[in-house]
Amino acid sequence: MGPGVNKPKLFSTHVLYEEPRRCLAEHFDVEYWTGSERPPRAVVLQRVAGKDALICLLTEKVDRELLDAAGPNLRIVANVAVGYDNIDVPACTERKIAASNTPGVLDETTADFTWTLLLAVARRLVEGDHLARTGWWLQWNFDLLCGTDVWGKTLGILGLGRIGRAVARRASGFGMRVIYNSTTRAPAEVERELRAEFMSQDEVLQQADFLSLHVPLNAKTRGLIGREALAKMKKTAFLINTTRGPVVQESELVHALEEGVIAGAALDVFEREPLIPDGLRRNNVVLAPHLGSASIETRTKMALIAAGNAIAFFQGKRPPTILNPEVWPRS
Ligand code: GLV
Repeated sequence: MGPGVNKPKLFSTHVLYEEPRRCLAEHFDVEYWTGSERPPRAVVLQRVAGKDALICLLTEKVDRELLDAAGPNLRIVANVAVGYDNIDVPACTERKIAASNTPGVLDETTADFTWTLLLAVARRLVEGDHLARTGWWLQWNFDLLCGTDVWGKTLGILGLGRIGRAVARRASGFGMRVIYNSTTRAPAEVERELRAEFMSQDEVLQQADFLSLHVPLNAKTRGLIGREALAKMKKTAFLINTTRGPVVQESELVHALEEGVIAGAALDVFEREPLIPDGLRRNNVVLAPHLGSASIETRTKMALIAAGNAIAFFQGKRPPTILNPEVWPRS
């Protein structure tokens, strides 16, 4: 688009990286939130007003209030995340606003981080780091911070989508047995490749030494791991959560950890981020501030996908990762 031509107006709630910024600049009149913290809600509502496009992060709730604040020009909401529980997609659809996410590019990175957490909690890395760092490590000892073996154990996966599969694939290097449950059973060749056995959810809960959650957050999965599910797990098992916090009933998890119902947990996501209940600040819990996809390479790709969706829309093309294709083609 040449100078002098009116470009559509876009608000991005993050300054992103240089490469996506360059792409956006060619096609949009872009306004960025440049603060280092997330923008206050009132600021988002104010700055989205009159925009044609919005690029947002999972911290922004895109609900009717925001869509009202944006006004009638808004045509696309491009989320820089694969999870889109922050977006009221039906409300977007009603208004013929396209919504998009960033599937595919973060699977391997998130799987790496899932394993980072799994290994850290099993082998007590965070406790060890603390001991070494603070100078309290006085001598090598036979039983110092002995953890739990990972190799040869059973990995249970709930949700064998793209990320669940990437997590399962890594298990073969540890000689683990992989069991899973998912709303739809994976094709036989995928099960063969991953050496993953399909089981009922209860069987996965009962047999897993490490239970890793990879279901998306929706009405069916909210609170999936509560008192009953935790009680089915082995006392020696660990829960790993890199999907969305509300999939786990946090107060029930605290209770299970206090009562020794399970051995520990490694958590990247929480019910009310960034709040973490005191009951989770325990030695047998590894905590991370929602870092699953946080590599520079992957975050760049995610931002490029979001930018690409917005650009495609205004070029009259279908946004490649549109969530509500029924709004396309525009009527
Ligand atoms: C991160 O949590 C994402 O959904 O991309």
